[in-house]
Amino acid sequence: MTANTGDRAAAEELRTRIAAELDSGRARSVGLTLEALDEAELVTQHSPLMSPLVWDLAHVGNYEEQWLLRTAAGGAALRPDIDVLYDAFENPRAERVSLPLLSPREAEDYNARVRDRVLDSLDRAALDSDDPLLGSGFVYHMVIQHEHQHDETMLATHQLRRGDPALQDPPAPPAPPAFTGPGEVLVEAGPFTMGTTADPWAYDNERPAHTVDLPPFWIDTRAVTNGRYLEFVADGGYDDPRWWSERGWDWRTRSGKRTPAFWDRDGAGTWLRHRLGRVEPLPMDEPVQHVSFHEAEAYARWAGKRLPTEAEWEKAARFDAATGESRRFPWGAEEPGAGHANLGQRLLRPTPAGTYPAGAAPCGALQMLGDVWEWTSSDFTGYPGFTAFPYREYSEVFFDGDYKVLRGGSWATHPTAVRATFRNWDHPVRRQIFSGFRCARDAGGDGGGGRR
Ligand code: AVJ
Ligand code: FE
Repeated sequence: MTANTGDRAAAEELRTRIAAELDSGRARSVGLTLEALDEAELVTQHSPLMSPLVWDLAHVGNYEEQWLLRTAAGGAALRPDIDVLYDAFENPRAERVSLPLLSPREAEDYNARVRDRVLDSLDRAALDSDDPLLGSGFVYHMVIQHEHQHDETMLATHQLRRGDPALQDPPAPPAPPAFTGPGEVLVEAGPFTMGTTADPWAYDNERPAHTVDLPPFWIDTRAVTNGRYLEFVADGGYDDPRWWSERGWDWRTRSGKRTPAFWDRDGAGTWLRHRLGRVEPLPMDEPVQHVSFHEAEAYARWAGKRLPTEAEWEKAARFDAATGESRRFPWGAEEPGAGHANLGQRLLRPTPAGTYPAGAAPCGALQMLGDVWEWTSSDFTGYPGFTAFPYREYSEVFFDGDYKVLRGGSWATHPTAVRATFRNWDHPVRRQIFSGFRCARDAGGDGGGGRR
């Protein structure tokens, strides 16, 4: 086989993969909208923080039209008139409900028409070229991940929605064997490769690969659980300004919050949680979720620890000290399977902390991918050598703003939309996302003056 036919075969394989991934994103979007809720619920605003679901639905179609039809395939515009409605910067989330949006059926039809044309033109796309958009399928990967990101956002909307459950609840998996490993592991001092240059799925903010030298640190093998977090609550953690930053305490007192979002208590004092329209006992062994950065930071200080920096998180998640290499996933290069991590809304909930031994990172930390997004102590900013590509509004306009980085994806994140280099960000007060955290501490010190 000549190099050329080899390239062509690889491009064919990539085309098949892209078509399948586009399909799986659309199946999720439809499952969370048209198949889950009636028209009235699709067009209503369930929370001032979120768009009406019908906006997300047509927005993913419009994004696909702009990037895959008009830009990648050089095709004629289908509905340039609606670009302005589905521009996230033109229209703050709280205002989208009052726009003349496509109806659910119109959105379904529009999305299908865009998709038909995209699949037609995929056969001609120069995936084996060195075109920065088309080469290795970059722009297709970007659009696939975009739909998955909105699907996760739609799940957050489902979580905020009131009323009877709309999504079928998969059976909880059998309880995993109790975790018997250490509570924290030492990551030795030294340089590692952070970020990536060549990953054809990586966003501009994950690039370029660069060396970061870190002092030694301890990192928890597991995320902080509901049970541990409840100890902080019961110890009066929400009433003690010692554990909170100045801004955190300001948020705490202004908001009046005294528990993570969606926690509740029955008459007998039993702790409950609301999950996608269901009320159930608070599972003490699951990672806590729906905490703000401020809450995560306060817990860590109370526990005598701190949040990991973003670089510490990434080193713990992917650096293999035995080879000196940084892995794409904590367990290696293999695509995420059901035995590696809780991703892709298979379970609609986190799994207990200490699950997925096959997905462990080289340092021994578990569940670095999946279950809950993990707050880090770092602000969202560009890596040295950052170049915005292909548009400034994905990442760059959020740099050096009031955003903290979250890592690792959640149970709601699709496997193609996360890897050990993937960076998410949100305001430090936000908790509608599936956010939790794990703690770290300096090696050699005791981590400082917490209670325990
Ligand atoms: C990367 C999840 C912060 O949802 O705000 C969606 C992704 N960008 N549409 C977001 C995104 C454009 C973004 N996050
Ligand atoms: Fe978007």
